[in-house]
Amino acid sequence: MVGGSGFYHFVDDLHEVEIDTPYGAPSDRLRVGSVQGRNVAFLARHGRDHRFPPHRINYRANMWALRSIGVQQVLAPCAVGSLRPDLGPGSLVIPDQIVDRTGGRQGTYFDEGAAHVSFADPYCPSGRAAVRAAAERTAMPAVDGGTMVVIDGPRFSTRAESRWYATQGWALVNMTGMPEAVLARELAMCYTSIALVTDVDAGVDAATAVNQAEVFRVFAEHTERLRALLRDLVADLEKDRRCPCPAALDGLAHRHSEGSPG
Ligand code: ADE
Repeated sequence: MVGGSGFYHFVDDLHEVEIDTPYGAPSDRLRVGSVQGRNVAFLARHGRDHRFPPHRINYRANMWALRSIGVQQVLAPCAVGSLRPDLGPGSLVIPDQIVDRTGGRQGTYFDEGAAHVSFADPYCPSGRAAVRAAAERTAMPAVDGGTMVVIDGPRFSTRAESRWYATQGWALVNMTGMPEAVLARELAMCYTSIALVTDVDAGVDAATAVNQAEVFRVFAEHTERLRALLRDLVADLEKDRRCPCPAALDGLAHRHSEGSPG
């Protein structure tokens, strides 16, 4: 799992593992252990003390590090702004599509040759179904589907940008969802985004505007609920994956020149 600082205590029987990758160091040591008898690793995407802002995260090192210790399924909780009045703070959404508005991030492991992974459906269908089922067992089911636009940040959007995103029919805005999702796909890992709405973005309500303190406050308020949901659903993740994700690299003309993480 890759997520924020509220999840340090996600894993039981844990030990910490320091990993280096061909792309440099990941954001933090991996916290490896178990949840409900399943092997789980947690990586703090922003680093231990939130030292890496979204545009400075080494996404390639993070995803490689997870894969290198044998991770097959990535659960990715994240904070998002809402672009829809019906999705207020505290709403949980399982996005099904991405619009990538980031630029200048290292977004692939394939820097040479021809290797184009399919990304029409960016998230794992089995992972999404597991989140949906776990959420239905709670008092607050998740909203199934929605397009998440990913921006570079670290600034928030202007009202005009936000209104434009909303008029496109996009539901959520976030700063970390890419290239994390596509890098997981390039390593044939399942990737499931679990989006917690922390604010309504600037275009929804002309009277207010999102600010950082509010985002952090609302996320912290809901961390325990999200942590419980994630721990609950770990047992539901398929042991033998039947989704398309493991075959993501099948038939590609050119694969990693420097070896895969195994
Ligand atoms: N993350 C949480 N809220 C956000 C917003 N309004 N815009 C971009 N990223 C966010």
